[in-house]
Amino acid sequence: MRVAVLVSGRGSNLRAIVHAAREGRCPVTVVAVFSDRAEAPAIAWARAEGLETRVVAPSDFPDRAAWDEALARAVAAHEPDVVVLAGFMRIVGTAMLGRFEGRILNVHPSLLPAFAGRDAPARALAAGVRIAGCTVHVVDAGVDTGPIVAQAAVPVLAGDDATRLHARIQRAEHELLPAVLEAIATGRVRLRPVLQAPPCARCVDDRLLVAP
Ligand code: GRF
Repeated sequence: MRVAVLVSGRGSNLRAIVHAAREGRCPVTVVAVFSDRAEAPAIAWARAEGLETRVVAPSDFPDRAAWDEALARAVAAHEPDVVVLAGFMRIVGTAMLGRFEGRILNVHPSLLPAFAGRDAPARALAAGVRIAGCTVHVVDAGVDTGPIVAQAAVPVLAGDDATRLHARIQRAEHELLPAVLEAIATGRVRLRPVLQAPPCARCVDDRLLVAP
């Protein structure tokens, strides 16, 4: 399965996918890595690993629609089956959504629908939750609103601050995201071009909730 990964930051989720693929745990090929920021550490890492990389920066375009169209074209040129937003800090627009409808996944550091948007671990902590976690979901036009594919829970521990909690959530992300890609690549989970109501969740093991 051909996977394009979009990144803006550190790229630990990108590394998790690439390592899982190399270790034979996830039958995918990362065909290209895209970023909105030339200075993203993830892009430097991808380049050093010999992956195809491309920066599509909004500042190089007259408006958001032009950027979105250029990004969609650049990604489409690599013919991915699935596009993964792995710490991509921008909302993709109609060109991306239209071209890859139902095939764009995002990883988010909360148990959605709780704490959509930025700073989710800090807000979860402030709300006093005892269980936090991460979600892989299909991207739609909203912010972290698309159908949930899988979730993993982690405990909030005494003495946690947002950084410690986020690090624990990220360790869960690094297992969940490759597991979801493996499930899609092997046909256990099917992404559909048009998704209606969010599917109900089915427990497939004690850490993983995967939509039937
Ligand atoms: C992750 O926690 C992800 O959930 C959120 O952004 C973070 C990206 O981390 N969307 P990294 O760049 O993959 O290390």
